Amino acid sequence: MTVHFIGAGPGAPDLLTLRGRDRIAGSPVCLYAGSLVPSALLDHCPPGARIVNTAPMTLDTIIDEIAAAHAAGHDVARLHSGDLSIWSAMGEQLRRLRALGIPFTITPGVPAFAAAAAALEAELTLPGLAQSLVLTRTPGRATTMPPTETLTNFAATGATLAIHLSIQNLASIVADLKAGFGGECPVAVVWWASWPEERIVRGTLDTIEDMAAEGPERTALILVGPVLGDPSFKESRLYADGYDRRFRPVSA
Ligand SMILES: C[S@@+](CC[C@H](N)C(=O)[O-])C[C@H]1O[C@@H](n2cnc3c(N)ncnc32)[C@H](O)[C@@H]1O
Repeated sequence: MTVHFIGAGPGAPDLLTLRGRDRIAGSPVCLYAGSLVPSALLDHCPPGARIVNTAPMTLDTIIDEIAAAHAAGHDVARLHSGDLSIWSAMGEQLRRLRALGIPFTITPGVPAFAAAAAALEAELTLPGLAQSLVLTRTPGRATTMPPTETLTNFAATGATLAIHLSIQNLASIVADLKAGFGGECPVAVVWWASWPEERIVRGTLDTIEDMAAEGPERTALILVGPVLGDPSFKESRLYADGYDRRFRPVSA
């Protein structure tokens, strides 16, 4: 018996990996984080599967479900939105499973920031503008931030920011970022990227608060940085004529 953690992708049912689909299909039990995992993915479960929405459950009761499947010899597909490496609560489940000696696998998924960037038709690292992407959030009701991980600190680097779990804090985000980026810095808010409800608002740090005021209250990414606005970035050296590289030697 194995617990298969599967990144369920950002929302569109066809943004699931083939491996994820096959692991769902091979598991007689499916536990899914119902707040963001689209129900269409459950169509891949085998007939008669036990399907449980873990959104209203505690960690203890989730582990009880897994332990019961383990005792019955049933594989479990464990679905979390996007990819599992960020804000999935996978870490605490893995720690419990290791302690219980229950085996697991991990199948990555398409993260929401990638779906948001696709919706914006944007590359988030452009030559001369930004070569780093910070995946971050602001404090929430249940989560404090480590003291050095402030938006002010991140803004000072000029890196592109992908701010999660924070649309309700847009006013303070704008205030914290203006000193580092300046009011003219481009910002985009993407709600429900890749879902039918997807919505995009583009503006600057000076304008975004008013422009996003009518948007949904949750499930949005706030992307900030010069890469979202400046079309005058340099071309990369990778495909430059005369740039000698292993796969395209100039001598060839
Ligand atoms: C608990 S985190 C999950 C992140 C997920 N593990 C990932 O890889 O993207 C939920 C937050 O991710 C962002 N998010 C998730 N899905 C999204 C989507 N389809 N469109 C925009 N933002 C999304 C929102 O900021 C939301 O508050």
